[in-house]
Amino acid sequence: MSKDSAAQFNEYASLYDDVTGLLSKDIVVPSVLRTIGEVEGLSIFDFGCGTGVYCRFLKERGAGRVVGYDLAEGMVNFARRRAEKDALNITFISQLGPDLSGQFDLVLAVYVMPYATSENELQAMCADMVGLLRPGGRLVTLPIHPSYDPRPSYYEPYGFRLIAENLETPHTNGGRVKLQFCKNGEQGAVFAWYWSAASLERALGQAGLQSLTWRNLAAPAYATLDKAPKELHAYLQKPHSIIIQGVRAG
Ligand SMILES: C[S@@+](CC[C@H](N)C(=O)[O-])C[C@H]1O[C@@H](n2cnc3c(N)ncnc32)[C@H](O)[C@@H]1O
Repeated sequence: MSKDSAAQFNEYASLYDDVTGLLSKDIVVPSVLRTIGEVEGLSIFDFGCGTGVYCRFLKERGAGRVVGYDLAEGMVNFARRRAEKDALNITFISQLGPDLSGQFDLVLAVYVMPYATSENELQAMCADMVGLLRPGGRLVTLPIHPSYDPRPSYYEPYGFRLIAENLETPHTNGGRVKLQFCKNGEQGAVFAWYWSAASLERALGQAGLQSLTWRNLAAPAYATLDKAPKELHAYLQKPHSIIIQGVRAG
């Protein structure tokens, strides 16, 4: 995503900071935190941090150095103010510097890969993410699920619609997808790009990430799907995102 297209996020800070909806509260946030595991003392870089929701969760759980990075100035400003309000020592930046390379135990990138507009950009983004890790450090990232449900209304109960530009071939590598918000009366949309599993793995592999694993989003508070609230079932059967993790080669 270029600096210009980052602007598409500036006006949606309050929407992204709200983690009280079903999807965030019961599925995405707990799945991400469970995948990350213990963070005590870890140095963590949140790539495409948005309003810094994960930075705050991780700092509150005992992480050491936490840096949030986002190209959209509106997001970074919101994130900084929000963390200050909670007296959390988190650094927020809107530019990557060479001094950061190889510094982090964990890089988190939630919903950022979909904003690479071309395969070259995807590779450059992955190189940036992996370059921030120390050898042996871990990347946790959430792209669009390669098998997301292409029916535009499918995710409406969860506050958004995913509308492929070409509805007849929604799972085309590099295809543009409109992400339309329909939550709390908010209207708006941003554009994202669909990347196949092969493209995602290739870009991460070329960046030097090894031992890639894919993990489905779940509702960790419930032992089995049938124990989860009924309104979550459709999402859990066809989640719009998935977790990929891997380790930087030593
Ligand atoms: C969908 S939001 C997710 C924000 C946050 N990770 C979360 O889950 O709440 C995607 C964010 O990624 C940022 N972004 C997209 N491409 C980026 C890039 N190449 N470098 C840094 N930030 C980027 C956008 O500005 C936006 O704030």
